[in-house]
Amino acid sequence: MEQDEYRRMADNGERHWWYRSTRALLQQLLEPHLARLSPDDLLLDAAGGTGATGGWLADRIPTALLDYERFALDIARTDHPGYRPVRGDLNHLPFADGSVGLVLCVTALYHALVPDPAAVVAEFARVTRPGGVVCLLEPGGRRLWRSHDAVTQAARRFSVGELQVMASRAGLDVLTATGAYSFLVPPAFALHLFERKTDTSDVGRNQSGLGGAFGALAAAERRWLRRHTLPFGLSAVVLARKPIPD
Ligand SMILES: C[S@@+](CC[C@H](N)C(=O)[O-])C[C@H]1O[C@@H](n2cnc3c(N)ncnc32)[C@H](O)[C@@H]1O
Repeated sequence: MEQDEYRRMADNGERHWWYRSTRALLQQLLEPHLARLSPDDLLLDAAGGTGATGGWLADRIPTALLDYERFALDIARTDHPGYRPVRGDLNHLPFADGSVGLVLCVTALYHALVPDPAAVVAEFARVTRPGGVVCLLEPGGRRLWRSHDAVTQAARRFSVGELQVMASRAGLDVLTATGAYSFLVPPAFALHLFERKTDTSDVGRNQSGLGGAFGALAAAERRWLRRHTLPFGLSAVVLARKPIPD
């Protein structure tokens, strides 16, 4: 990712409707599990970037922030002092087996610098302690490729089923597998058709989300997701737990 993109990501993180809605969705999913963490548990925001989606976690509980981009780590640490920055590679996590209570990974497995996303999910499973949880949120809709993906160095988008299978094959029990931002699928399909050959990024675009309409739709969708799942969406989400041996 270009350095400009990191700066825009950090500047927009607090204000942009998608980041605000995504933080709210992650808190909704993870809140019940935070209560079950032990005080010794290490939390990991894997490829956490500037902390735009995981900073709320670091603001509550000290959290290791792994990313290879020094510039992003510096911004995250300044904005969220609860982060413990670790410069490293997702493909080879520098953490011992079973040493982490919660792994959060948001929009990173799609990245061109991740040659084998399933191997990274297996790494997440390796470092997670029995009973600990792994939360993945990635670009969804495999056919919705558009210019934003090229600008953000995407190599792939995921179906909900693909994320679910990777978690299961890594030995995790899937607690929730769902689409999110389902209402964005029709506009994303239009962008897929019309913007394939431009170099436009979504970062910084439509901050207010059509004057608050997207934020309101996301809030309604979150209410639905409290009890149900969605088969697809512009994001794919999986929450999984490492089983406790008998
Ligand atoms: C789109 S950003 C997402 C950042 C953050 N999770 C968020 O939601 O705001 C993708 C991040 O993945 C990081 N990244 C990509 N491949 C990586 C790798 N192999 N090892 C470590 N970090 C990686 C990039 O530096 C970038 O910060």
